[in-house]
Amino acid sequence: MTLYINCCVRETSRTDKIAKALFKKRGSAYTEVYLPSENLQPLTAERLKKRTELIEKGDYSDEMFRYAKQFAAADTVVIAAPYWDLSFPALLKLYIENIYVTGIVSEYTADGTPQGLCRATELIYITTAGGPYVPDFSFGYLKELAEKYLGIPKTRLIKAEMLDVDGFDADAIVAKVIDEL
Ligand SMILES: Cc1cc2nc3c(=O)[nH]c(=O)nc-3n(C[C@H](O)[C@H](O)[C@H](O)COP(=O)(O)O)c2cc1C
Repeated sequence: MTLYINCCVRETSRTDKIAKALFKKRGSAYTEVYLPSENLQPLTAERLKKRTELIEKGDYSDEMFRYAKQFAAADTVVIAAPYWDLSFPALLKLYIENIYVTGIVSEYTADGTPQGLCRATELIYITTAGGPYVPDFSFGYLKELAEKYLGIPKTRLIKAEMLDVDGFDADAIVAKVIDEL
């Protein structure tokens, strides 16, 4: 199963347009999680306490673990998110907070080394930026998380940048990225 994590907030999102073009080219079916509609909750003191107790008991039956289970079971993960404030929208961090569950996506060996439990062989990150794209706090972070903690060995970045700068033809830049997929 290919899991599409769609964090594209705008209706006319260019990031989502590239993602949909990728799926069309690959001809693969996908399951989409559209984050703006998901009513994701942060880990408040109450939720964190509940979650910790359940993890300690090894009881992952609660609905709060459904995103983590779905993520761990995916064969390929595609994340699309615009470049916001040098990173990605807070919604995506909220999603990560919800899926990062010890015992489902990751575990620790006896000496404290993280060991990924995810089935996916690749995580593809798609983003678009108004100006130049700096990957440090978005793709860079996700790459580290995927490869070192979640057990996803391969990560790939697909980006279109300079889309909001005068003199740059945004449609042509996006079309070129789609053409090269
Ligand atoms: C809240 C917000 C923050 C943004 N921050 C940045 C930024 O830090 N650097 C940048 O180059 N562009 C920034 N942009 C511009 C977007 O990255 C750019 O318009 C992008 O293509 C939007 O993707 P979309 O078409 O999928 O919505 C920002 C836009 C918004 C709405």
